Amino acid sequence: MPATTAPGPIDPDAHAARVRAAYDTVADAYAALLPGTEAETPLDLATVGAFAWLVGATGAAGPVADVGCGAGRMTAHLAALGLAAHGLDLSPAMVAAARRAHPTLPFVVGSLAALPYPDASQAGVLAWYSLIHVPPAQLPGVAAELHRVLAPGGHLLVGVQAGDGPRHLSRAYGHDVDLDAWLWRPDELAGVLTRAGLDVRARVVREPEAHERHAQAFLLARRPG
Ligand SMILES: C[S@@+](CC[C@H](N)C(=O)[O-])C[C@H]1O[C@@H](n2cnc3c(N)ncnc32)[C@H](O)[C@@H]1O
Repeated sequence: MPATTAPGPIDPDAHAARVRAAYDTVADAYAALLPGTEAETPLDLATVGAFAWLVGATGAAGPVADVGCGAGRMTAHLAALGLAAHGLDLSPAMVAAARRAHPTLPFVVGSLAALPYPDASQAGVLAWYSLIHVPPAQLPGVAAELHRVLAPGGHLLVGVQAGDGPRHLSRAYGHDVDLDAWLWRPDELAGVLTRAGLDVRARVVREPEAHERHAQAFLLARRPG
């Protein structure tokens, strides 16, 4: 049942530990319920397709990171679109599920707050419903990381639920969890990315579908150069 998260400063390590524990708990159920892109609408997939096309067409050759990849379904989708995709996630159980489901693709445990990639090494980065778990005070640091790892001319695609403020999940995928997430107004999120040095090229906002509680927003940005 969604409720308002407790006010006050958030300890980054404690928050990360709770996100990791929540996704470790739900990993197998998540992988079983969402094996592919069935939950994405045609518009969502068209947006991901445009991102993949841009990454391929810009000539910023190199790998494409799916950060907060969960059980790897979008990593596999990017690979099927012809990209050299690899995944990273905070949750070891999610990474294990991703490796089981997609044994030919590389997956590592890691954090958005300190990406284990060299500067300017990624032709593209996808953050598909992973920034939703980054507390607003930490988002500028994560945006700086995304900028740092992108090659000049490389593209970023972010997917989030659109709206305002925090929400708390105590139940997800049939399990009890203690998980905080944040809704983002597209303009606000675009501002954070812009201040990190990224050039926001498009903002797609669509209305909720029947199974969704919120509008969805997709931001496409590019590292200048
Ligand atoms: C809603 S799931 C989305 C997973 C995947 N992108 C998908 O679409 O199926 C959010 C994922 O983000 C990961 N995540 C949340 N915060 C993270 C962080 N700071 N660093 C890395 N991964 C994170 C979670 O562990 C979880 O697997």
